[in-house]
Amino acid sequence: MTNAPTAPKRVLVLGGTVYLSRTLARLAVERGHRVTVAARGTSGEPPEGAEFARIDRASPEGLEALRGRDFDAVVDVARVPAQVGPVLDLLADRVGHWSFVSTISVYARNDVVAPDLLEPTAPDSSEPAVEFYGASKVACENLVREKAGAKALVTRPGLIVGAGDPLDRLGYWPLRLAEGGEVLAPGDPARPVQWIDVADYAAWLLDAAESGLTGTFDAIAEPVGMGAFLDGIAEALQGIGVLDGPPRLTWTPQEFLTEHGVNPWAGPDSLGMWLPTPDYDGHCRPAARAVAAGLRPSPLGETIERWWRANAEAPQLKAGLSREKEGAVLGAWHDRTRAFAVPED
Ligand SMILES: NC(=O)c1ccc[n+]([C@@H]2O[C@H](COP(=O)([O-])OP(=O)(O)OC[C@H]3O[C@@H](n4cnc5c(N)ncnc54)[C@H](OP(=O)(O)O)[C@@H]3O)[C@@H](O)[C@H]2O)c1
Repeated sequence: MTNAPTAPKRVLVLGGTVYLSRTLARLAVERGHRVTVAARGTSGEPPEGAEFARIDRASPEGLEALRGRDFDAVVDVARVPAQVGPVLDLLADRVGHWSFVSTISVYARNDVVAPDLLEPTAPDSSEPAVEFYGASKVACENLVREKAGAKALVTRPGLIVGAGDPLDRLGYWPLRLAEGGEVLAPGDPARPVQWIDVADYAAWLLDAAESGLTGTFDAIAEPVGMGAFLDGIAEALQGIGVLDGPPRLTWTPQEFLTEHGVNPWAGPDSLGMWLPTPDYDGHCRPAARAVAAGLRPSPLGETIERWWRANAEAPQLKAGLSREKEGAVLGAWHDRTRAFAVPED
């Protein structure tokens, strides 16, 4: 697939006021499409140049602003089936291409890479609880395939990183490395981490809408080891002049981190993007099909540079360790290793 200019299309983004869906809507405006963003307008502003249709998918009358409209392409990011079925009933026959943003959380297993999916929730479920997230997305996917048929594209992103990320699982690392000093690093440097850059994903979704790509794909870049990931971030920071030399990483075993209250993946007291073994030994998904279908993952350095320019001045990290906690864990680790050191003659 290429980025050759295509005729302007009428693109409807169901969402479009925040992060991925807003990035996509903004890019669609930049590429000259006629873009409608449909949301409540509570999460943020639609991008400049997009029409705003105020809808509320949680309300029975909430879709009136879209009734009778025709679009060449729709992209939907919803999470609960009760909000996905009705808009398909209203528009599927009036739309050329229907793209649904799902998640790799639809897979039933994380310990091995397997195609099995979670049991879907009911097709009319409006359960918002996070523990039903993957199962709800399975039900949403099924509705999209059932009602949009041959024009359906379902993509399943892994961790989406980049400018505007509301959860910032990546962001801890560039900020921490830029501070310098001894850095607590989790587990095994060879342990793979994987992500998709929000800019790359939005571009691929738009390419897919333009070209009419259909089917089901994981949306993810090739994994790299945690060690290479942290070195790559440090190199990118050196490239933009915010770090002088290589980072001073102290790798600590998973068991030690768990014992000292360091959480994996996300949230308070976490080391972002780190996933423990063996429960998550299969968390990385193959990237090749998406790449063959046009996804163009940016080099890590470009992702970090974009993240830094967009977020670093006023970071609002919701993931990571405080310096105090990191210092305490490093101190405990050095005490432990000293206690087990073999005395020299
Ligand atoms: N972040 C990740 O790492 C990650 C990983 C895997 C998959 N995903 C998936 O990627 C997508 C991310 O989408 P996103 O970044 O655009 O964020 P999002 O938080 O999923 O955005 C939801 C959008 O829907 C709108 N919305 C919410 N409730 C609504 C309602 N009742 N009626 C109408 N509109 C409503 C919101 O706008 P208003 O609030 O203004 O109405 C917002 O624009 C999601 O599908 C998510 O499941 C994310």
